[in-house]
Amino acid sequence: MNQFLYTAFVACIAGIVSIWLYAALIVTPPQAAAEAADEASLRTISKAELARHDHAESCWKAIDGLVYDFTDYIPEHPTPPAVMLRWCGKEASEAYHTKGYGSPHSPAADAMLPDYLIGRLETNN
Ligand code: HEM
Repeated sequence: MNQFLYTAFVACIAGIVSIWLYAALIVTPPQAAAEAADEASLRTISKAELARHDHAESCWKAIDGLVYDFTDYIPEHPTPPAVMLRWCGKEASEAYHTKGYGSPHSPAADAMLPDYLIGRLETNN
């Protein structure tokens, strides 16, 4: 009986540690992009430069003040490409946060953003 209780206790602790590790290491918190931006020396990208990358061969988007190059991700996005392409070259915060119909992207989607980060959108005009 004691051995059974000990085994159950160890299994329980192992489960808690596994979940904690998963949350800490694999599911990156949503604010990860902003934190990464603080740490990295990102170059400033003008709105004119952003606007030039408005097509499938070079698709940049600004989300929450940061600029991302999503060119390689468009074929991976789980919708027809037109959903993503519509926002290339544009300020796309609202589109990203609502998916176009009022529902936010998942934490898993948020965690992908840092992989595509290329700069910070200029703040003047
Ligand atoms: C900025 C314009 C974007 C729009 C309008 C948009 C819209 C959508 C729509 C309509 C869906 C499918 C329906 C649904 O899951 O509710 C979806 C799913 C998804 N999108 Fe986007 N998306 C955008 C950008 C992005 C970006 C930049 C990423 C990641 C780098 C991304 C990652 C995903 C993922 C992983 C899913 C699966 C569901 C989820 O995890 O939320 N999307 N998006």
